[in-house]
Amino acid sequence: MSIEMKDYYAARAKEYDKIYAKPERQEDLRAIEQWLPPKFADAEVLEVAAGTGYWTQFIAPVAKRVVALDASQETFSIAKSRAGCAGVDWVVGDAYQMPLAGQKFDAVFAGFWFSHIPLEKLPGYLSYLNGFLNPGARVIFLDNLYVEGNSTPLSDRDAAGNTYQTRPLADGSTHKVLKNYPTELELSDLVSSFSRQFSYTTWQYYWAFDYRFDG
Ligand SMILES: C[S@@+](CC[C@H](N)C(=O)[O-])C[C@H]1O[C@@H](n2cnc3c(N)ncnc32)[C@H](O)[C@@H]1O
Repeated sequence: MSIEMKDYYAARAKEYDKIYAKPERQEDLRAIEQWLPPKFADAEVLEVAAGTGYWTQFIAPVAKRVVALDASQETFSIAKSRAGCAGVDWVVGDAYQMPLAGQKFDAVFAGFWFSHIPLEKLPGYLSYLNGFLNPGARVIFLDNLYVEGNSTPLSDRDAAGNTYQTRPLADGSTHKVLKNYPTELELSDLVSSFSRQFSYTTWQYYWAFDYRFDG
């Protein structure tokens, strides 16, 4: 068993995009593919934990610039081959210590990353992220709703309230992965000290939280 998130996703890189082929999620995915890109029109966007670039391919064509960061070189080799990802600046690095000193962005997008941030780190992490934002910048987190009978069941919960799943990979290995399912109220509370404009949107399988950094 491994709880090292970066190693898990590096090992999963080649099979990661299977999650975007689940038949029951196609309707949601098409809706989000329409909903998301216009939010980043003409913006300088930092995409955190961009992975295989599934969302990057829709954002990059409308944004002014996209800097996509991920810890895994393996996922980026897939992302770079996507037609929509031309012109993206790829940065291999740790989302908790981004090698982007002095850079400020109009927007941040992170898909399926928020749910992997330990609860106890969230307030500090969001304020760290604020350090990369211009006043008025938009931040959008997209992530999974827990859907009984469809989501991977939760296998553990720690003292801080973080929940975990036991996930198998095609090579037979299993990985204990931190995966949280925040409520709308928890999300709102987290940003209320630096944002007066935020909204929560759901589809059948996904949620998105969209807020403006007051600056
Ligand atoms: C669930 S995937 C999401 C990928 C992509 N955003 C998407 O929506 O398809 C999580 C990503 O986080 C990356 N990751 C894990 N730990 C990281 C860290 N400390 N810093 C940067 N990226 C990390 C993994 O390599 C993986 O690509």
